[in-house]
Amino acid sequence: MNYEKKDLMAIDDFKDDLPEIINWAINLKNDDEMADGFKPLEGMTIGSIYEKPSTRTRVSFEVGVNKLGGQPLTLLSNDIQLGKSESVSDTAAVLSRYLDGITYRCFKHSDAQLLAKSASVPVINALSDMHHPCQAAADLMAITENKKDLNGHISWVGDGNNVLHDLLLAGVILGHDVKYATPEGMEPNQEVVDRAVEIGNKTGAKVVATNDPIEAVSDAGVIYTDIFVSMGEEHLENKFEAFQGFQVNEELVSNANDNYLFMHCLPAHRGEEVTDGVIDSKNSIVFDQAENRMWAQMSLLTYMCNPIAWEAYRDLY
Ligand code: CP
Ligand code: NVA
Repeated sequence: MNYEKKDLMAIDDFKDDLPEIINWAINLKNDDEMADGFKPLEGMTIGSIYEKPSTRTRVSFEVGVNKLGGQPLTLLSNDIQLGKSESVSDTAAVLSRYLDGITYRCFKHSDAQLLAKSASVPVINALSDMHHPCQAAADLMAITENKKDLNGHISWVGDGNNVLHDLLLAGVILGHDVKYATPEGMEPNQEVVDRAVEIGNKTGAKVVATNDPIEAVSDAGVIYTDIFVSMGEEHLENKFEAFQGFQVNEELVSNANDNYLFMHCLPAHRGEEVTDGVIDSKNSIVFDQAENRMWAQMSLLTYMCNPIAWEAYRDLY
């Protein structure tokens, strides 16, 4: 059977299969027997290029690829020719001759798209200025695990950034309403919002925008935030000041449902976008999210790099 090469640039690239990818990640996490004997990446090498720092993404890909029987290869941008004397497209063509899959953390989303277009092996966007699909897969996995019947909508308080874009898309794909509060002028990309609304029209999920954090978190089942100034935006003067009143603190979360979940992709800037009292509370699932990066990516890698194994195991579970 011929399988078309799959690339993951934004989480809605896999909108039809996302629920199954997430359920399958939960199976992998909980079924030791399956996890031990399952080596769909045996004989494969997965290379990961980083233009920006990373803790979770790097470690979760390295350990996850190993667990699946593959060999991870981390390529830090300072050590390779990309961005200095070699183009994205030549890099993609060369790496495709050695590797069975590529993950790419980059500044410009257009570079991730160009790498995917130029590579003959599957490419995963491991965070760009526009999207962070692996984070969203792990987050919806954590929501599914922690609260099968989410008591209230998913709310976002903060910047209209890469993490919000994929949370919006993944949230509505899984049928959850998403309400986001951003400061004026920091709204998410309209084209991404339009995609989320269109998906929500099919799944019955609503997308609501506001500039008022209290409105967003009122009666929420999930409160999600992220750093106010993302990697690569440090030069944007005064961006930080726009977030007065957007800190997720004890007073703000008192508007949510009692058993709401607090979520953050991490790293967190404690005392800025979130207080210790909230991130360390019983409602916080931030470390479940971090762990789930590995299981969700293992499921995604199998789906993308070994579709035969994916289909065979899918039928068993
Ligand atoms: N959440 C996330 O992507 O973390 P890292 O930047 O540490 O990879
Ligand atoms: N929005 C943040 C996410 C970090 C995981 C950034 O892009 O820096």
